[in-house]
Amino acid sequence: MLSTGLLTLALALSVARADIQAGVPYPAPAGFEEWTSPIVVPSPPTTGAADWAAAVAKAKKFVSGLTLLEKVNVTTGIGSNSRCLGNTGAITRLGFPGFCLHDSPLGVRLADLVSAFPAAINVASTWDPDLFYARGKAMGEEFRGKGINVALGPMTNLGRVAAGGRNWEGFGVDPYLSGIATAETVKGIQDVGVIACAKHFIANEQEHFRGGSLSEAYSSNLDDRTLHEVYAWPFANAVQAGVGSVMCSYNRINQTFACENSKLINGIMKTELNFQGFLVSDWAAMLDGVNSALAGTDMDMPGFRAYGQDPDLPDPSLSDNGFWGKFLVDAVNNGSVSTARLDDMVTRSFAAYFKLGQDKGYPKTNFDVTTPDDFRNGVLVNEHVNVQGNHKAVIREIGAASVVLLKNKGGLPLSTKKAGRIGIFGSDAGPHPAGPNGCINGQGDHGCNDGTLAQGWGSGTANFPYLIDPLAAITNFVAEQGDGNTVEAVLSEWDFGKVDAIGRYADTCLVFSNADSGEGYITVDGNQGDRNNLTLWNSGETLIKRAAGACDNTIVVLHTVGPVLVEDWIDHPNITAVVWAGLPGQETGNSLVDVLFGKVNPSGRLPFTVAKSRADYNADVVYSNPGNLQITYTEGLNIDYRHFDAANITPRFEFGFGLSYTDFKYSGLSARVSIPKREEPSTSAKTGHSTPAVVPPGGPADHWKSAVKVSFTIKNVGKVDGHEVPQVYLSYPASAGEPPKVLRGFARPLIKKGQSKTLTLELLKRDISIWDVVSQSWVVPKGRYTVAVGASSRDIRQSTTFTV
Ligand SMILES: *[C@@H]1O[C@H](CO)[C@@H](O)[C@H](O)[C@H]1NC(C)=O
Ligand SMILES: *[C@@H]1O[C@H](CO)[C@@H](O)[C@H](O)[C@H]1NC(C)=O
Ligand SMILES: *[C@@H]1O[C@H](CO)[C@@H](O)[C@H](O)[C@H]1NC(C)=O
Ligand SMILES: *[C@@H]1O[C@H](CO)[C@@H](O)[C@H](O)[C@H]1NC(C)=O
Ligand SMILES: *[C@@H]1O[C@H](CO)[C@@H](O)[C@H](O)[C@H]1NC(C)=O
Repeated sequence: MLSTGLLTLALALSVARADIQAGVPYPAPAGFEEWTSPIVVPSPPTTGAADWAAAVAKAKKFVSGLTLLEKVNVTTGIGSNSRCLGNTGAITRLGFPGFCLHDSPLGVRLADLVSAFPAAINVASTWDPDLFYARGKAMGEEFRGKGINVALGPMTNLGRVAAGGRNWEGFGVDPYLSGIATAETVKGIQDVGVIACAKHFIANEQEHFRGGSLSEAYSSNLDDRTLHEVYAWPFANAVQAGVGSVMCSYNRINQTFACENSKLINGIMKTELNFQGFLVSDWAAMLDGVNSALAGTDMDMPGFRAYGQDPDLPDPSLSDNGFWGKFLVDAVNNGSVSTARLDDMVTRSFAAYFKLGQDKGYPKTNFDVTTPDDFRNGVLVNEHVNVQGNHKAVIREIGAASVVLLKNKGGLPLSTKKAGRIGIFGSDAGPHPAGPNGCINGQGDHGCNDGTLAQGWGSGTANFPYLIDPLAAITNFVAEQGDGNTVEAVLSEWDFGKVDAIGRYADTCLVFSNADSGEGYITVDGNQGDRNNLTLWNSGETLIKRAAGACDNTIVVLHTVGPVLVEDWIDHPNITAVVWAGLPGQETGNSLVDVLFGKVNPSGRLPFTVAKSRADYNADVVYSNPGNLQITYTEGLNIDYRHFDAANITPRFEFGFGLSYTDFKYSGLSARVSIPKREEPSTSAKTGHSTPAVVPPGGPADHWKSAVKVSFTIKNVGKVDGHEVPQVYLSYPASAGEPPKVLRGFARPLIKKGQSKTLTLELLKRDISIWDVVSQSWVVPKGRYTVAVGASSRDIRQSTTFTV
């Protein structure tokens, strides 16, 4: 017995010594010494908290029967020869084919017979949790139908910088809004048995210099409170919703690469949030094998070291082209990574698999990203399974619900009785000249901006099954109505003679313009992912002004990835309406027709601020890198509208803004406070020992319980039915050091004309808390709070107070 005890002790010491090495202490450059990440080891093993118990137990049992090579196989990708964007190795003996992981957050990427859903930025602008969920579920059905285990979404980074290339892949700038959208998307995807992946963890807020070597990749430097209250907030929602996987990002945080950052993965994700699933690297984001393992990363994708150095890796457990594979086998054998750590990597992956029931009748992968052909190397790889179902209906509904009416001086809604001669201007109104998935410049993943814009570019895309452009949809609608209207179009931005000629005689003019962005591995018109400017592409401003000069009923439609500056033309007297339609996906034209012709009353609300000038935003893309670039989030909690409020800057259109074809009146606001108690350690009556309260995934249980019930009544006092989007903003006691107000509730009720609805929205304890860096916990500050309800962040209709 004694010798066994000593052996255990010796093992524990050797594990501890090895784990101490975790995390390269990347030195901070002079002046940035405070921005370093502490090392947090060892990596906490999954405990089976809350509803993970059965799945974790099953996974543990399963993993205990695997060999070292079998375990390593499922931690490491097989390279770019895989059928999905990423596949792990197999467990051949047991017939487990390996995990299939695949993009994107708006549908199944690079596959046929799939849907192209509205981008997350549009989903956010609906402010409708039911639609968040419905899209997640429909996408989940498509991933499942194609035999994909892990859907690489939702994307829950925020739009810290307005020109950030991938902002449209996420749910806007506000952590609360993004948090609800993230959670509902996760639930939708996972309710059909697909593992969702919340990404990119964390502070991956611009494309320029996001990754690579130490000198190439930026370090996002953010303080602990900002991390908790802003950037990690939606990730906490994902974990609380049961997300099965999380992806670490390319960039560094406080000097340390995300996939090696033990403070973030071991400390925050796996301890504080008690995340039970697995942590997968972004593609080639892992840059060190042992440190990533000790920091808590569980899966290396796609298994090779770097793009461009990618020979085949058919058997990960033997391959030496990456950081894991054979090297992980060596690291376990020489003790630098413990067997317990390896077991936990695999246990976490299979816990997600078992929790979602993928061991029972899950479809096999039936497509192949590397080829559109049926066969590869004589093996059938594409069965061309049609997974679209009736998803076009929810795509059209979200497209229409996401349209934000920015200006209306009687231009909308149109009626075919009065539209008369309709002139349509701009390349954004028409089809893609090279076909919906073609690009004249030959780039895949929509790396071009030709024709109407319905998604951005990069890995966050899906092929269009078809694309209903606005010109086609308007033409069809007008023809079907048969009221004698005509449609003429000028799809060039530069044919001013024709614009003048058609504009002069048109009764209704529709001008279309766009602004595109995407992921940094593709450069479009000189934009390396991030936008170079916040103006329209193809001289949209000139076209708008030209049309408005000729036509006194000019309606502008914007398909942009985020905010654009509109000062140049927004107040033009001939511009009678303006809508922001974002990136609506395959049904773009149809959903726009629904709003323009009044079948749908617009209720979209901006998920970002539209400033009057780029300089009004307090953070921007950094376009040059002196080497070891430091991006310090000096604005702290004051992202987007919080900054405009704090600095008293008037935006053109504030966060949460959007008009309707009807009017709503608010009344009767009240707030009832009842703060749930912290769940203290309980003392067992039997043993007399106290046991610490187990933190469920997502954080303490009381944190997620209702604390304030906010009630109010809305009456539709206009002439048509419509959805209103009431927004609840909270102002903390001044001593709390919070922004002037933060979003803490919203809804999207349908209210018929002349009718009223009384709503009760619940603020959770979390929603009235702040992160206390000293006690390292969430606390509810004492003092007087103001609760305001309104139609935007600046159109506050009623407010009341409560005291804690
Ligand atoms: C980054 O550094 C700041 C300033 O010292 C600190 O507040 C924060 O907790 C650090 N975050 C991480 C993830 O290391
Ligand atoms: C590891 O995965 C590869 C590729 O799927 C497979 O060929 C090999 O047999 C697997 N190894 C084991 C030990 O199962
Ligand atoms: C153990 O193996 C890993 C992977 O090959 C290697 O990086 C590490 O340096 C080795 N450590 C020791 C102590 O030999
Ligand atoms: C902004 O960028 C777009 C896309 O590259 C370009 O078409 C446009 O001309 C630029 N605007 C200005 C004012 O330079
Ligand atoms: C508005 O349109 C009319 C043509 O209907 C034109 O004569 C007038 O100049 C335009 N106004 C402006 C400010 O361009």
